Amino acid sequence: MIDLSSNLLISLVSILSNASPVSFALYEFILANDEVFDNCPQIPGNRGIHDLFDMANVTLVYSEGRVTIGGSGVCNWEGMQPNDRIRSRAELLKYHRGTWQPTPLSSATNNFCETLFDPTSLTYHMWGRHIVESERKCVSNYGHIYHYCHFMVDTVLEFPWNIEGRHKLVYRSRAYDSTSNRPRPKEICIQVFGEFIKVK
Ligand SMILES: *[C@@H]1O[C@H](CO)[C@@H](O)[C@H](O)[C@H]1NC(C)=O
Repeated sequence: MIDLSSNLLISLVSILSNASPVSFALYEFILANDEVFDNCPQIPGNRGIHDLFDMANVTLVYSEGRVTIGGSGVCNWEGMQPNDRIRSRAELLKYHRGTWQPTPLSSATNNFCETLFDPTSLTYHMWGRHIVESERKCVSNYGHIYHYCHFMVDTVLEFPWNIEGRHKLVYRSRAYDSTSNRPRPKEICIQVFGEFIKVK
């Protein structure tokens, strides 16, 4: 799932305070891949979302400006311990003249497991709140199962500037041993490709 913490909102607010008057508009992120997630070919052996979850019983349907998620997902991040610390970063890049360039939209957390169940975070809003109370353990618990009632993630978003064009969201995550702080070998990397179209 996409990790965007409340930092995203903070960066939006700081952009806003420098640019007035601001007019918000709605943009739809048209996903390039019906399966939503792509892997990261630049990392040898990377399997994208499948490094994080066994998706065999997860349903993921993209249509009409939303992704509907259901079924059950099994935590599949190999080589980590339940109390490892997870650092993660999500970045939106724009395709411009043949290369991927940074945008002001990025978000990072040094403790993803806290963010996941923190009601003030965007990660919680988009994902964590859909995990039933009794299953609220972090993705660091290999083999743990999340049973979802169907929930939706909207791909229509509001932005204070023109964001039209091809973009990709890159999510990377790394786990650290809680005592030695050494990184675990398996890094998670997931990409989501699409294009923003102005809808209103
Ligand atoms: C998927 O569901 C089937 C049937 O309930 C079950 O036997 C299997 O273990 C599940 N696999 C995963 C990866 O969730």
